[in-house]
Amino acid sequence: MNLLVTGAAGFIGSRYVRMLLAAGAPQITVLDKLTYAGTLDNLELDHPALEFVQGDIRDAELVDKLVAGADQLVHFAAESHVDRSILGADDFVLTNVVGTQTLLDAALRHGLESFVHVSTDEVYGSIAEGSAGEERLLRPSSPYSASKASSDLIALSYHHTHGLDVRVTRCSNNYGPHQFPEKVIPLFVTNLLDGGNVPLYGEGLNVRDWLHVDDHCRGVELVRTRGRAGEVYNIGGGTELTNKELTGLLLDACGADWDRVRQVEDRKGHDLRYSVDWSKARDELGYRPAHDFTTGLAETVAWYRENRAWWEPLKRRVERGHA
Ligand code: NAD
Ligand code: DAU
Repeated sequence: MNLLVTGAAGFIGSRYVRMLLAAGAPQITVLDKLTYAGTLDNLELDHPALEFVQGDIRDAELVDKLVAGADQLVHFAAESHVDRSILGADDFVLTNVVGTQTLLDAALRHGLESFVHVSTDEVYGSIAEGSAGEERLLRPSSPYSASKASSDLIALSYHHTHGLDVRVTRCSNNYGPHQFPEKVIPLFVTNLLDGGNVPLYGEGLNVRDWLHVDDHCRGVELVRTRGRAGEVYNIGGGTELTNKELTGLLLDACGADWDRVRQVEDRKGHDLRYSVDWSKARDELGYRPAHDFTTGLAETVAWYRENRAWWEPLKRRVERGHA
């Protein structure tokens, strides 16, 4: 079995590939453009079951060649940072929407067995109370989440219209090792480890559901191996926290005080809360998160403490405006 995985030089895709390789994986080909968010340091490049190809998911010729040699596809590649999408949406539409459609067309041409599209809980928009089930209306707020909602719906349309075996996952906020130091947890931890301050948006009352990246990866794998064509599966069940509560935990973990927190201007159009109902994945696939948040967060902070060589060059590139 040949599995094509897009975007696996990034945070979640690389953890997914590591998990499969550790379990005695099928042959895996990774297609990744190596944008600012992707690094080869995330991949075990010398593993005999892994092939890496640098390229853009919008490169129809390259995509056609790689899909022709694959049986299944798991699609992680995306522009993934909300703040960047507010500064400029071009790359979000091009990669997340057009790139996904390029992959879907190739999958259709070559009759792929299955196509797992990794979407996000942000497609539901802000959830005032309760949790969003898979049937809820999509109300994305940011250019990022709108581009993800577009690709999510285009992927499902290829199932409805053409009968392609498409499965969609919508997951909550991931944390863990190898996350690019622009997202709130690695940004705050690396700033604190560097002796700096942390920028808390607005009042810090926005709520996110934090799930360990390896739980997300197990959920994606369950969808690939046991899911059904044309179905959407929410993946959640982490720990809901306000950003203020999360900041307190990160300060404690880094041995820092509240004087290191700068309350800064809020994110434009900032969604107050995300929450997904993941009972379908639990009942149908046997999905259940395994990581306890307190332990997972402590291990994550320890990982950043011990792996400066991984994040320092990435952070310096951002500071110099090269990422
Ligand atoms: P990431 O930004 O860490 O990694 C994205 C990867 O995609 C990078 O390696 C990058 O080089 C690659 N890429 C970007 N544009 C590309 C293109 N045009 N062609 C080929 N490769 C390209 O992202 P992540 O946090 O690992 O997220 C992975 C996926 O999971 C995304 O689709 C994201 O929307 C989704 N997701 C993320 C989270 C989260 O909390 N991070 C939660 C739910 C869903
Ligand atoms: O919910 C899933 C989504 O989670 C994924 O689809 C996205 O790819 C991923 O980036 C993440 O989006 P968020 O916007 O929730 O994550 P981020 O880490 O950027 O922000 C988390 C919260 O922290 C959010 O309420 C904004 C706040 N924040 C963020 C940054 C970067 C701050 O207060 N200060 C900051 O500097």
